[in-house]
Amino acid sequence: MAEAVSWDETTNSARAVKQVVSPGQILEGVLLFQAVVENWENISNFQARPDDILIVTYPKAGTTWMQEIVDMILNDGDVEIRMRAPIHVRVPFLEWPPLMNEESGINMLSKMASPRVIKTHLSFHLMPKSFWEQNCKLIYVARNPKDSMVSYYHFDRMNLLKTAPESWEGYFQDFMQGNVTFGSWYDHVREFWEARKKHRMLYLFYEDMKEDPKREILKVMKFLEKELPDDVVDKIIHHTSFQMMKDNPMANYSSFPETIFKQSISSFMRKGVVGDWKKHFTVAQNEAFDEHYGAKMARTSLRFRMEI
Ligand SMILES: *[C@@H]1O[C@H](CO)[C@@H](O)[C@H](O)[C@H]1NC(C)=O
Ligand SMILES: *[C@@H]1O[C@H](CO)[C@@H](O)[C@H](O)[C@H]1NC(C)=O
Repeated sequence: MAEAVSWDETTNSARAVKQVVSPGQILEGVLLFQAVVENWENISNFQARPDDILIVTYPKAGTTWMQEIVDMILNDGDVEIRMRAPIHVRVPFLEWPPLMNEESGINMLSKMASPRVIKTHLSFHLMPKSFWEQNCKLIYVARNPKDSMVSYYHFDRMNLLKTAPESWEGYFQDFMQGNVTFGSWYDHVREFWEARKKHRMLYLFYEDMKEDPKREILKVMKFLEKELPDDVVDKIIHHTSFQMMKDNPMANYSSFPETIFKQSISSFMRKGVVGDWKKHFTVAQNEAFDEHYGAKMARTSLRFRMEI
């Protein structure tokens, strides 16, 4: 098990933490933070409860958005209750390692009352088996790879736990090869897609959520067997809009130290749109990407919309 790295807000300890997090290690084909791999035994032996609700995404697919939506649904749209704590405390991050005086995700979850909502970026084949044994409900959100790549690039620029990308071009290649934390986007979205019918899983798309938030929020409510009056649903839609979440200190990660998320480089809540990749991809990159994508996605029925 990894030793907890104590955190004080000095550059030296930021470097110490960075060393245990970045560049990472490959576990069963997936690049993970080194500290996650060191804590792996605890993670893979995690004991699920039957009423746990999982929110699973490849990074930057609308994770925080779905966390906020589910938390509000479970609390009947109560605006005060969701201000009780920052989102990473209300919906703990399963594989978050014991770093910076913060508890590990596992520790936070072990003390939490049911029903717990749990965030994870783990690939399907790395998920703790207990979730399947307990037949837990799982909400998966997938986002098109071009916007995911751009969003992840800007996130890695401001996430000081990771080595900053040297260039957009280099990041573009690394993303396509799965040489980024949590591994290949392709493997992640496809594995859950193939598994969706064998488990209690709701598979959603970021683009659909942008296009018609009400339609998608109603799907989540139905999946969670939760009925709420129309005015409450409207309230949830309003409070989980991009602008409301960006201005909400309990959702916008302003509670995280600037020594980890340096939001002056790029905001955690950056744009929240579909199609921003067009401002980043060159014509040549777009052609190369489309070719690679076509080959990788040839044998799946999974389809993405790059714009809406
Ligand atoms: C993976 O990314 C790291 C850091 O960006 C880089 O140093 C390394 O060469 C890359 N590995 C491969 C196999 O591309
Ligand atoms: C987070 O929300 C607070 C309160 O609205 C705001 O003052 C702060 O600027 C926001 N932080 C970011 C990074 O947007």
